[in-house]
Amino acid sequence: MANIDWSKLTFSYTKTNTILRSTFKDGAWTPVESLTDDYISLSTYAGALHYAIECFEGLKAFRGKDGQIRLFRPEENAKRLQRSAKYLGIEAPSTEMFVEMCKQIVKENIDFLPPYEATGASLYLRPTLIGSNPQLGVQSSKESTFLILCSPVGAYVGGALDAVDVVIARNYDRAAPNGSGAFKVGGNYACSLYSLNVAHELGYKAVLYLDPATKKFIDEFNSSNFFAIKGNSYITPKSDSILPSITNMSLETVAAHLGMEVERRPVPVEELSTFEEVGECGTAVVITPVHKLVDKPFLESEEETVYTYGDGQCGPKSLKLYNYIRGIQRGEIEDVFGWNVFVD
Ligand SMILES: Cc1ncc(COP(=O)(O)O)c(C=O)c1O
Repeated sequence: MANIDWSKLTFSYTKTNTILRSTFKDGAWTPVESLTDDYISLSTYAGALHYAIECFEGLKAFRGKDGQIRLFRPEENAKRLQRSAKYLGIEAPSTEMFVEMCKQIVKENIDFLPPYEATGASLYLRPTLIGSNPQLGVQSSKESTFLILCSPVGAYVGGALDAVDVVIARNYDRAAPNGSGAFKVGGNYACSLYSLNVAHELGYKAVLYLDPATKKFIDEFNSSNFFAIKGNSYITPKSDSILPSITNMSLETVAAHLGMEVERRPVPVEELSTFEEVGECGTAVVITPVHKLVDKPFLESEEETVYTYGDGQCGPKSLKLYNYIRGIQRGEIEDVFGWNVFVD
């Protein structure tokens, strides 16, 4: 096992043993290569470098209580990558190829898979698909290169379940109406960086974007979906410009399973004052509770409306959902939904 202090891991890059690569050219995928160097040779004319012909995924492998290794819902990531690739007009790996490569990268980098005892730590997998043939004109790439990288990670922000302060950016959008918001394409993240940087300078952990068409409804954060708890309801936005989060989908299923009402519907900004718990959700930490949510006429404005949730800790209903998902991932709770894929 690698000599790593698992308790000190953050969401950052650690070089591991290998990365995997396969390239789609001349109508077929090349045999999967396992590379020890994490630098690749790429044409400087690759579409990924000029026109952001790139999409990616993020998922995790966990070592369970029983010593078994589990991937959480990798088929869903495969399907989402296929949707993103279709949007970009490039070839994507089949679900079977995607899942097999996920298993292979975990096996080759088993030294970097955190032990069960390292609560909150896991091996993060980053499947990445890029348009790789040389091209000058704006068009979908004919050749695509599929890579899977991995890195051991801890919690995304300070510690899992530390509540954060976030801000609404009314004068910035991460996605356009009828645009690319529902796809996991790199360009979306590039487009959110300016407002994210401003928010960071102002002391906020993330930006909460509104629906770009009307600015009346809540969309999502830079790299996570929005959810709220009101009474016995789990409420999350229905919008065409947000990424369909696999964590959110799982939380909805678990919430219903635990007897909560699940409401996926447009969430008006005015409703923020009625919520008991608010959070971000995504693969990185499952749930990040929101403590203060600040709304401003524009991000740089001094004028603000502040919504406060809880006392800086994770609310009880969010915590229950978090523990359930983590329990399934870590082999502590029976996986009645059949979400885990085992790596043998
Ligand atoms: C914009 C955005 N929304 C939501 C999510 C959460 O999605 P998931 O739960 O599939 O990780 C992510 C992270 O992948 C994201 O980047």
